[in-house]
Amino acid sequence: MENQQLLDIAQEFGAPVYVYDAGKIQSQYNRLTEAFSSVPRLKLNYAAKALSNLSVLRYLKSLGSGLDTVSIQEVQLGLRAGFNPEDIIYTPNGVSLEEIEQAAALGVQINIDNLSILEQFGHLHPKTPVCIRINPHVMAGGNSNISVGHIDSKFGISIHQIPHLLRIVELTGMHVNGIHMHTGSDILDIDVFLYASEILFDTAKHFKELEFIDFGSGFKVPYKENDIQTNVGELGQKLGGRFNAFCEEYGRPLTLSFEPGKFLVSEAGYFLARVNVVKQTTSTVFAGIDSGFNHLIRPMLYGSQHEIHNLSNPEGKERYYSVVGYICETDTFGSNRRIREISEGDILCFRNAGAYCFTMASNYNSRYRPAEVLWLDGKAHLIRERETFEDLLRGQVEVPDLFEAKPAAPVGGAQQTNGNRPKGNLKIKSAAER
Ligand SMILES: Cc1ncc(COP(=O)(O)O)c(C=O)c1O
Repeated sequence: MENQQLLDIAQEFGAPVYVYDAGKIQSQYNRLTEAFSSVPRLKLNYAAKALSNLSVLRYLKSLGSGLDTVSIQEVQLGLRAGFNPEDIIYTPNGVSLEEIEQAAALGVQINIDNLSILEQFGHLHPKTPVCIRINPHVMAGGNSNISVGHIDSKFGISIHQIPHLLRIVELTGMHVNGIHMHTGSDILDIDVFLYASEILFDTAKHFKELEFIDFGSGFKVPYKENDIQTNVGELGQKLGGRFNAFCEEYGRPLTLSFEPGKFLVSEAGYFLARVNVVKQTTSTVFAGIDSGFNHLIRPMLYGSQHEIHNLSNPEGKERYYSVVGYICETDTFGSNRRIREISEGDILCFRNAGAYCFTMASNYNSRYRPAEVLWLDGKAHLIRERETFEDLLRGQVEVPDLFEAKPAAPVGGAQQTNGNRPKGNLKIKSAAER
């Protein structure tokens, strides 16, 4: 998007604000489908966790995408956005059997990643088709938080447990219709991906009724000019060819699925924030913005480097700044960045703000979460309002008279009770019941 368009949006909707360029989402979607055009049955299931605004979900649906979800709430959002249940895959980790049953009752594709739940689910619902998430034990991913396919990871069923897995499938008579892996995000090396895929093909041979193989995601996107990125063209050529050959071996056509999040929406996103203060210290010039890691946590959580531009002074002289937020602890978006000269009131733009930015935003420091705007066909559409004080109060229960002074109980008098807690067995509701 152009500077002026972004500035106009900040002017119209206020800052901080997230802006998503629908055209970029579409071009990324097309890039990936074209890279795998040799595969007759290809399915992209957009990973909702990256950016789950209903309008973005609907837009991806209009492009032909399915949806990858990790919680019952994401499933519900997907249904609300109009996805058919069969176009939603549900890949939870560490959730209760009840939640999985709830998702199954909604008709979505279940993907199970541990033997205990698989066995229980198989006994209770042998007719519901399930996909199985395998842990291929490869080290892939940009950093340890997002490397999830290695031997110490909590995700997936270990390839060393295949015999046990097969026994469960046989004894319960369940129908396994898919095999899945997701080894991590920001994978640089295609060969690691291809290596893990071979493990998935080997595993797939054990199951006779497969309909699809899901290779997860993890495509690395560029964060700055000339940054490395996954070569999806090369991956499409290599994996696509290998997949087609596997289908021949397997004896029937299968669908190749991916569940990209970052690849589809990261570069489409811009986060705009106003500079509150420029503060020169003895060693550094800080630009303090009207935001913090409550809105964009990736730099503090993962050390992510989001490019920062000064939209208000695009021709200014470049100087070095540390861009910081207003949260009352270290809250740094970028240190010693070369940015066009910043003045108080300028609008800064953070790039790659589409994936895992708004969805990871919080109300920390009792701040409001920002508005979201979708830029579609040359027009800006407000798709989420900025929060207000009412949003901070929503759900809080102000118990009347809770802290009124009470007369002290007489010594040796009434037995002390435990607040309002009911007597007898306390049944704790599960998340699904709640
Ligand atoms: C199961 C699963 N699928 C897909 C994704 C999306 O990954 P990415 O955003 O790197 O494309 C994730 C991200 O964590 C995931 O956990």
